[in-house]
Amino acid sequence: MIAVIGATGFVGAALTRRLLAAGPAGGGRPEPVRVLVRDEARARARLGGAGAERLDVVVGGMHDEAALDALLAGARAVYVLVQTVTARQPDGAGDFADAERRATELLVAAARRAGTRRLLTVGLIGARAQATNPWVRSRVAVERQLLGSGLDVTVLRPGLVAGKGGAGFDDLLRAARRPVAAIRGAGRQHWSWIALDDLVGYLVDALDEPETYGRVLDVGTVDAPTYRELVAATAAALGRPTPPVIGLPRGVLHLVAPLLERVGGHPRGGLRAALDHLADDLVGDPVPIRGLLPRDLLDWDACVHAAIEQAPAVVTGGSVGQSGDGHPPRRPGDRLQLVARQLDG
Ligand SMILES: NC(=O)c1ccc[n+]([C@@H]2O[C@H](COP(=O)([O-])OP(=O)(O)OC[C@H]3O[C@@H](n4cnc5c(N)ncnc54)[C@H](OP(=O)(O)O)[C@@H]3O)[C@@H](O)[C@H]2O)c1
Repeated sequence: MIAVIGATGFVGAALTRRLLAAGPAGGGRPEPVRVLVRDEARARARLGGAGAERLDVVVGGMHDEAALDALLAGARAVYVLVQTVTARQPDGAGDFADAERRATELLVAAARRAGTRRLLTVGLIGARAQATNPWVRSRVAVERQLLGSGLDVTVLRPGLVAGKGGAGFDDLLRAARRPVAAIRGAGRQHWSWIALDDLVGYLVDALDEPETYGRVLDVGTVDAPTYRELVAATAAALGRPTPPVIGLPRGVLHLVAPLLERVGGHPRGGLRAALDHLADDLVGDPVPIRGLLPRDLLDWDACVHAAIEQAPAVVTGGSVGQSGDGHPPRRPGDRLQLVARQLDG
């Protein structure tokens, strides 16, 4: 049994579908998959398809000890694919960093009770404990918390994850399609990137690879193009001329972020940190994992073509700008976030 937390999200849904369809190690014996979700109907809609009969759903949040016990009973491994910056958190959970730290404590304790030794999660390439952005700092804090837990932990750190519905990637698609691309900031930040399919592939391949235990591994491209270069590459992949790019001050959304957080019930400080983070460099060293888990990584054109073959984007209850499960906005703040994003860029 493999457990997944965050299975309704962008990365988590893709991973869960892969586990259900193929089983671990790309076609080995399929194993049951159990997910912890807050909205069962939404989860079943997102995770239907091949292998759905092996999907077991536990309803609850990651601050609920009984739900964590139910999730991990009999599970040999757990994937943790959550973010607390824009996702709703329970009352009293504190700011986004408090919410993730507390949930991680509860999860580690539940894993010990259940005897679940293996834990895999996704961090952030280039994250440093001294970063100015509080979200980046909290990513490092959670990595340390997990690595000190005594469990067999692997943290994979991507930069931009290229796939339809991903925060950041949909913005690039939108910008590349416009006659004039108005982007947030100057667009000179450097972003390493990885196709969603490849991130999921690494997550599956790392599951039973002991060489990855106790490791934090960057994944993705060695080259880190600037945001403007990514807009140009996206336009080229779409067969369009590169649009002229106008950099807008990041101020508008930044100013309204606290209001959006309140109206949408998002954790304090999270939306602002997530927006600020879009201007950060995402650069690391993805070479070491290539020796451990060799794979042919998809190129940018393949990511763009895969995305445009999928359904048009809508806004869901996940990341800023996340889309893709075919559901309409489901919380008041989601609609406001969409409007604000359109105003801003
Ligand atoms: N997307 C990218 O480009 C990217 C790049 C680098 C790193 N990452 C990292 O990848 C990980 C996954 O990101 P993502 O983009 O897939 O996020 P996402 O689409 O926003 O999904 C977040 C998931 O976390 C769940 N969640 C949040 N709080 C929860 C709680 N209290 N209890 C239970 N579930 C909770 C959400 O459930 P609900 O649906 O119920 O809200 C959702 O399933 C994060 O660590 C993120 O930092 C992502």
